[in-house]
Amino acid sequence: MAIVAPSILAANFLRLEDECKMVNESEADRFHLDVMDGRFVPNISFGIPVIEQIKKIAQKPCEVHLMIEEPEKLTEDFRKAGADILIVHIETCRNLHRNIQQIKSLGMKAGVALNPHTPASALSEILQDIDQVCIMSVNPGFGGQKFIDHTFKKIRELKKMIAEMGLHVLIEIDGGVTVENAAPLVHAGTDVLVAGNTVFKSQDPKKVIAQLKAATHYS
Ligand code: DX5
Ligand code: ZN
Repeated sequence: MAIVAPSILAANFLRLEDECKMVNESEADRFHLDVMDGRFVPNISFGIPVIEQIKKIAQKPCEVHLMIEEPEKLTEDFRKAGADILIVHIETCRNLHRNIQQIKSLGMKAGVALNPHTPASALSEILQDIDQVCIMSVNPGFGGQKFIDHTFKKIRELKKMIAEMGLHVLIEIDGGVTVENAAPLVHAGTDVLVAGNTVFKSQDPKKVIAQLKAATHYS
């Protein structure tokens, strides 16, 4: 069964505590927290003070998806704020190996995200050092976008690379995940489904999370 990570970006921020409690009580496995800087992506979301508050009530691991330039400058601060898994974009890291070592030395799991234009092969020399790959299935910066179908090819390529290298790196899909595409995504090799609008804009978020889990049951 896939890991389901609701993206708080789509939550109602006026009711953030209730939204987090809903995730706690649901079948979700972890929190997905999107940080944007208005430079790497054309949008600004939330940052360290908000993550600190979420961490106080989150009863599940928090993964922080950094869509920011020079993520290495804030790695330690995100650890202190409560990140259990830190995801950096390959497109923002000039010294990716060093950044990964820094993340791991602080006791976090390390993830690397790929924009839609970045090929799976870009990870060939770093795959053995990381815990998770986050494949962006939309252009980063906004929730509620349409899933890019070409992503399926990248999932299959990465799955093959990971298997050939004998590794246990998780494949995460972020953007445009729905109850309908959840099963095909897991079938193609996805381990972690991020879902923002699909969960939080529904009438019954807990039920949708349960549906996402159930859709991936057979794998
Ligand atoms: C987009 C973020 C996503 C976003 C997904 O840049 O990384 O995590 O919240 O939102 P949905 O599931 O609505 O596409
Ligand atoms: Zn994200």
